[in-house]
Amino acid sequence: MVAALVVLAPLVWFWWSSLVPSNASVMDMGYQDSGGAASVVHEHGRSRDDGGRTVSVADLTGPVDGSPDVDVTLTVDRGDVVLADGRTVPGYTVNGVSPGPTIEAQVGDLVQVTLVNRSVVDGATLHWHGVDVPNAEDGVAGVTQDAVPEGGRHVYRFVVPDAGTYWYHSHQVSHAQVRGGLFGALVVRPADPAGSDVDVVAAAHTYGATPTVNGDPGGLRVPADPGTTARVRVVNTGSGVLRVWVPGADYRVLAVDGREVHEPDAVHDRTVVVAGGGRADVEVAVPDDGSAVRVRLGSLSVLVGGDDATDGADPRERLDLLSYGTPADVGFDPRAADRSFTYAIGRRPGFVDGLPGLQWTINGHTYPDVPMFVVREGDVVAMTIRNSSGQPHPMHLHGHHLLVLSRDGLRSTGSPWWVDSLEVENGQTYQVAFVADNPGVWMDHCHNLPHAQQGLIAHVAYTGVVEPFRLGGETGNEPE
Ligand code: C2O
Ligand code: CU
Repeated sequence: MVAALVVLAPLVWFWWSSLVPSNASVMDMGYQDSGGAASVVHEHGRSRDDGGRTVSVADLTGPVDGSPDVDVTLTVDRGDVVLADGRTVPGYTVNGVSPGPTIEAQVGDLVQVTLVNRSVVDGATLHWHGVDVPNAEDGVAGVTQDAVPEGGRHVYRFVVPDAGTYWYHSHQVSHAQVRGGLFGALVVRPADPAGSDVDVVAAAHTYGATPTVNGDPGGLRVPADPGTTARVRVVNTGSGVLRVWVPGADYRVLAVDGREVHEPDAVHDRTVVVAGGGRADVEVAVPDDGSAVRVRLGSLSVLVGGDDATDGADPRERLDLLSYGTPADVGFDPRAADRSFTYAIGRRPGFVDGLPGLQWTINGHTYPDVPMFVVREGDVVAMTIRNSSGQPHPMHLHGHHLLVLSRDGLRSTGSPWWVDSLEVENGQTYQVAFVADNPGVWMDHCHNLPHAQQGLIAHVAYTGVVEPFRLGGETGNEPE
């Protein structure tokens, strides 16, 4: 009897403590990690050091007044996606298609998007992946808003602060909705439009088992005159890495995750590896002889120029962004960190939400007992991301860009390498830093969305920010 109890009691305890509370605030989940600084968030956001002043996530909106420079309505549906070759795949559409329309803006524009949920039964949201929007515009169900129910609508308003390539997607039941097509691209053009002659988005997505570029299983053809240059904005909307290369020609990587590379040199016979959720803007030259230049996105191609182009196998040797381009000012001193966190990803048998399995761990804890990384506005924050889980993870922090400092002790010597989606392979350790300049409660999770749904999620929370939204149960909010 005693022996049975000794065995069973801890099991019951592990099972019970793994249950994800319904109708809970993310602030009550897991434990607070202050990163070596004194302040933690107490009682729904009230912290020791903010003098009792608090602000609700719901009030951290973009500009409430003013007419928008870009005004878009996106109507989302559950239904068949029609691929460019006529095949249909059950999923989700935005304004009747998938990918949804590309939103185009100029840096500094006030963008207004009205999300109309016509028929997505589970509800939907729009998250602006890579755009460092104010917290209330971030589109995470149960964290920054309630999921928009069928028949409902929600207006997002934000100024786009940085030129670059981004994308939007639902952050409600995202592992199913993003995979099913509820996403689109967002391009923010620089104030000075001088650049490549041709500028095109190439969003790679696999519908069911069919890889596509911009919804076309046949890839993409882009007309361009001989002798011109083209910027191909590669968006990886999938969970795994996307391998990008240019057979038989040099190319440059102009930008990564919506941040320009400083002085990018020509890349020859190398693959650029784009993390799940990540982007790479690749510049190619259209040949003078009337042929095309080919940009390979995994098994598919983007052909720029004429009809015919050289093809070639994946060079395998990868472009290392740690040493690509040349250094430039980053605007802060990453060595003077006010807080230092560790985000160590592992795996072990255990329970998550009452179900046994091999679970992801963060700093040894399983969901929902995961860390809340607490920061204060103005902090320089250092983070060590370590992965010993046996699988790669594309790690995505909302609302901020991370500066990569080193990988496995090898320091960054090239252009400042800013990311919002960082592929961390098994066995790797990255040192990153960011400035806490965007108050709110922000997800910091794996963008292999099934992994996030399995609990590979943490949050970054600012002192003094109160979380009014709730997750699970009758709230209907299921961000992953
Ligand atoms: Cu692309 Cu948490 O999202
Ligand atoms: Cu993962």
